[in-house]
Amino acid sequence: MASQSFIAVVGSANVDLTTFHDAFPKPGETIFGKSFDLGFGGKGANQAVAARLCGANVAMVAKVGNDLFGPATIKNFEAQGIDASRVGIAEGVSSGVAPIFVDREGQNRIIVVKGANDLLAPEDVDAAEALLRKANAIVLQFEIPLRTVYHAVEFAKRTAIPCIVNPAPALPVDFARLRGVDYFIPNESEAETITGMPVDTAGDAKQCAQFLMEQGVKRVVITRGEHGCLLANEEGTGLVPPFQVASVDTTGAGDAFIGSFAVFLGEGRPEKEALRRASLYAALSTTKVGTQKSFWSRTEFEKEWQKRSASV
Ligand code: RIB
Repeated sequence: MASQSFIAVVGSANVDLTTFHDAFPKPGETIFGKSFDLGFGGKGANQAVAARLCGANVAMVAKVGNDLFGPATIKNFEAQGIDASRVGIAEGVSSGVAPIFVDREGQNRIIVVKGANDLLAPEDVDAAEALLRKANAIVLQFEIPLRTVYHAVEFAKRTAIPCIVNPAPALPVDFARLRGVDYFIPNESEAETITGMPVDTAGDAKQCAQFLMEQGVKRVVITRGEHGCLLANEEGTGLVPPFQVASVDTTGAGDAFIGSFAVFLGEGRPEKEALRRASLYAALSTTKVGTQKSFWSRTEFEKEWQKRSASV
């Protein structure tokens, strides 16, 4: 029986304002959208919620604004059973928000206004040290200042806690500060932006992952949406096949992948199985509308996993 893991997420929390529409307005034009959804989001918060729904104990280190959304975000964490004792409220700045535009194929375009997320400082990581030391894995993304990400990576290395870095949204990185990261997990476009290499085919993804390994991260996973994902580790590279689903909204699928992968790995499952499970968990999240609200419970997931895993 797999053991329950404890995942600490150091990252962002946003409120997502999602519109569903068939076309984009031209400059100066007003058009009607089809529908609207308001929900909790932010890459860090989404990963924390996915990990929690997959059955882990989860703690969040984050910063929100003292506005309508900040206290509601903290309540949302608490309602999900996530330790929010290290989610601070910053004065004089908005909470993170994300206007999201989903087209008729379920593809999303996102504009993030970081607000309070930008005030999450290395000192906040230090203040959470007692909590972080209990974690089986520390999970990081790029919607908080990079200096805070680097500081948390150094903490994870010092304390030998496995560390997963999801470089989303993509930013130029100082690889020297990411050396020794256990898993570096970009999607194709993030991998392209970070390395300057094209990532259109499986062959491209392999070359890009090898380049990233050469920069000093221990393992690379490039998520490739409907094409599955590619793993590079010290043994070489391998492809993990996708699961087919009827997608309506892909928002948060990458976060569902990261949060669930941290849990499956923390439970002691073999790396390839953890990746296949995370691929299915992410795919299933695209079958419902919204971000966190599209994530499946562990019970629902396991039923689907039993049905599908034998066929891959
Ligand atoms: O990955 C999806 C997330 O990106 C959304 O929840 C939005 O808040 C942005 O952070």
